Amino acid sequence: VPHLLHLDSSADGATSVSRALTATFAQTWQARGSDFTITYRDLRTDAPPHLTDPSLHWSPALRTVGRPGSPDPDPGEVARQDTLITELVGADILLIGAPLYNWSMPSSLKAWLDYIHVLGVTTPFGGDTQPMKDRTAVIATSSGDGYGPGTGNEGKNHAVPALELVLGASLGMRVIVIGAEFTLAPLLEVLADRRPQAQADLDAAHAAARSLATDLG
Ligand SMILES: Cc1cc2nc3c(=O)[nH]c(=O)nc-3n(C[C@H](O)[C@H](O)[C@H](O)COP(=O)(O)O)c2cc1C
Repeated sequence: VPHLLHLDSSADGATSVSRALTATFAQTWQARGSDFTITYRDLRTDAPPHLTDPSLHWSPALRTVGRPGSPDPDPGEVARQDTLITELVGADILLIGAPLYNWSMPSSLKAWLDYIHVLGVTTPFGGDTQPMKDRTAVIATSSGDGYGPGTGNEGKNHAVPALELVLGASLGMRVIVIGAEFTLAPLLEVLADRRPQAQADLDAAHAAARSLATDLG
């Protein structure tokens, strides 16, 4: 049974572009039939707290590497981590709405990553444990400005590359990025000349979301 884990992280609960894109994906996914199930977590209202214990970056057998000589981590934190990792490992496809905040990812999404990226558990460390290997992650991004060639902003989007490193390089997932740039163009006069491009970007991103949700799984 193909199962989707759908995460959103925009602080905007009403007009968010990244939420609209993940919703397009999720609706298309669900329309394929009752077998196409979804676990949804809204990190805006249901994010883990910032990590308070570095030992949680390591498998139980390796925890003293993260926090030498210290006792076991707080059982509540371990349970929270187990819940998040169980949710992730139960998913055939991972879908993440990831807007660009301060040239990086929302801190709620970063907190989630800090809990699920665990050496010896979700990424190999002296073994071959890599449960998410070869599964697909779809990142739906949105940014107010543009970061492509000719914008003067090339290389300044630090959200997508970090997600590609953790989910792709480390967890072994196939990472597909869709998204819309210049989302602030309709609202800002300084970006008025980007409005046609912004609309075209957005339409293409929704089409990509529909097509991926039809084909994946
Ligand atoms: C806290 C915050 C920081 C932002 N930082 C950036 C930024 O560094 N670069 C950028 O292009 N847009 C930035 N924006 C604009 C958002 O990327 C843009 O509004 C995007 O559409 C937000 O995603 P959403 O529509 O899914 O909420 C920022 C917005 C917020 C709220």
